[in-house]
Amino acid sequence: MQAFDATRLSWPMDWDATFGRSAPLYLEIGFGNAQFLIDLALQNPDANVIGVEISLPSIKKAERKGTRNGLSNLKLIHGDARLALWGGMPLKALERVYINFPDPWHKAAHHHRKLINGRFLQLLASRMTDAGLLEIATDDPGYQEHITEVLEATAYFKSRTGPTYETEDLERIRTKYELKALAIGRPCRYFHWMRNNTAVENIFEYPKEIDMPHIVIKTPLSLDQISDQYDRSLSHSGDTPVRHLQMYRTVVMDELKEQRQALLVETHITEDPMPQRVGLTIQQRPNQEVIIGLHEIGFPRPTEGVHLAAAHLARWLLSLDERNKLTHHNLAVELSG
Ligand SMILES: C[S@@+](CC[C@H](N)C(=O)[O-])C[C@H]1O[C@@H](n2cnc3c(N)ncnc32)[C@H](O)[C@@H]1O
Repeated sequence: MQAFDATRLSWPMDWDATFGRSAPLYLEIGFGNAQFLIDLALQNPDANVIGVEISLPSIKKAERKGTRNGLSNLKLIHGDARLALWGGMPLKALERVYINFPDPWHKAAHHHRKLINGRFLQLLASRMTDAGLLEIATDDPGYQEHITEVLEATAYFKSRTGPTYETEDLERIRTKYELKALAIGRPCRYFHWMRNNTAVENIFEYPKEIDMPHIVIKTPLSLDQISDQYDRSLSHSGDTPVRHLQMYRTVVMDELKEQRQALLVETHITEDPMPQRVGLTIQQRPNQEVIIGLHEIGFPRPTEGVHLAAAHLARWLLSLDERNKLTHHNLAVELSG
């Protein structure tokens, strides 16, 4: 069993095709040592079960346990649950979602990392079936209060039991964190909720892959002259902030498999739902031409954010010398200005 990388999922995935059958889809977020996840898959052979986890050692453990148990109804995703949900899950796909003992992120500076908030619940609601079940458990008093607040405020879910949470659940599969908490007498809280019938607007559009960026600029400058003028503080704020970091000399293959001298610009693009660190290339061509493109190393996804970053680099390059001229581009974004 091998996990999918959350950054390489199709947007969205066809889970029926991936599992090779159509069945109710269950998701566990942050499965840790995978004890609960494996039992969930074993106890529900008629469900397609997915586990998403950000920690690689946990993924490796789950891969081994899944293989050992011969679980064909289990798939794993390595990466951030928000990305897996936003990009990888079709609308109204998930029949059950389990979030067991999510990290509480106590420090004020880390509060924004808390998984469960109003926006996350809206995302979840858009990917869950009507009447889909949402199960959350925590032993952290602060997070319990926070979850209570956001669940009570959400328009898209309702409690299945009446109260916001229960203080006991004797039926459930226990998790490692739960057993640890119970062993030292720490109370656990169980939120048994479900999707209500309030329609949810999908404000979490699927990211789109577009063409690899390709910008041709006529310039009398050599690569050395370009790199001499490079300023590492080159950045662009806005809806999709872009930061160009280091610039390196490199050699790339062109479309005819010819080696070309090039500059490689390490670039960070803060784009929802998937921030990317990519390499943009400035490739030297004959006839005083350079081509700005995207280096393929690291499986970059050519999104609109990548086009924005390429446009930004092109604008900088054009500004270096008044003889520089744009001859061609295929960008889905504005290049001038
Ligand atoms: C406190 S542990 C609980 C593990 C397990 N559910 C249990 O109850 O024993 C929280 C888990 O969530 C994972 N996690 C934290 N943030 C995540 C995210 N954004 N996406 C996926 N997993 C995440 C952590 O790596 C960790 O394994």
